[in-house]
Amino acid sequence: MTKDTPLKDQVALVTGSSSGIGEGIALALAASGASVVVNYASSKEGAERVVQKIRDTGSEAIAIRADVSDEEQVLEMFSKTIDHFGTVDVLVNNAGIQKDSEFIDMTIEQWDRVMGVNLRGAFLCAREAVKEFIRRGFDPLRSKAMGKIIFVSSVHEVIPWAGHVNYAASKGGIMLLMKSLAQELAPQKIRVNSIGPGAIKTNINRSAWDTPEAEAKLLKLIPYKRVGEPADIGSVAVWLASDESDYLTGTTIYADGGMLLYPGFATGG
Ligand code: BGC
Repeated sequence: MTKDTPLKDQVALVTGSSSGIGEGIALALAASGASVVVNYASSKEGAERVVQKIRDTGSEAIAIRADVSDEEQVLEMFSKTIDHFGTVDVLVNNAGIQKDSEFIDMTIEQWDRVMGVNLRGAFLCAREAVKEFIRRGFDPLRSKAMGKIIFVSSVHEVIPWAGHVNYAASKGGIMLLMKSLAQELAPQKIRVNSIGPGAIKTNINRSAWDTPEAEAKLLKLIPYKRVGEPADIGSVAVWLASDESDYLTGTTIYADGGMLLYPGFATGG
């Protein structure tokens, strides 16, 4: 392990990493020396593109398809990962979707699908990762922790979001899932933390930034006056996965250009 490769010999599984923030995280972990499992639900092409990018830089990667809301598929993904790489050191629970609707029109399908991927999927993957950490055991030569779990939450784990109640409820749920897990697993040297991204340029929020008018409106919510990039989240994930952050557990790091700073109060109140 060196300063440039703090994740050398670590195996990381990143859910939903065929595009967007997950891709940014997978690339950053690989650039820091980790071998990476690029999980995807539907975009085989996207996942293979990310795997190729990683291999081009000299790190190892494989793509594995699994819908994280499906228990059987999650179990299969972990057994394939362990067959291929021997173990898992870092789980990044990134897979997440939005199915937006005004509340009175929200369907049970919109509610269940968002909860299924964002919350149930995070639970299922975390459970399998913990089983594997315990099976492998603590090895101080690998890392100071027996394992690391990183949730990709959102500023909407604390900022209410009208028109997106299923999404905000799922992220609020992730916050206490993360903290309760951190409390339960700390004695076993398993660290559990979250990253809370603000507005990051990906497909999930394309309409909020892909025209100058939309971007100008979005920037009113961002004191730092820049819409984030997936790499802004990747670098935080590297630090949270590495021993550099060994004393952190149960914490959300918000990477949001100041979105949580009540921007409306900059000139008022
Ligand atoms: C959402 C994006 C949104 C951002 C800031 C994220 O969690 O997925 O659609 O732009 O929060 O509001």
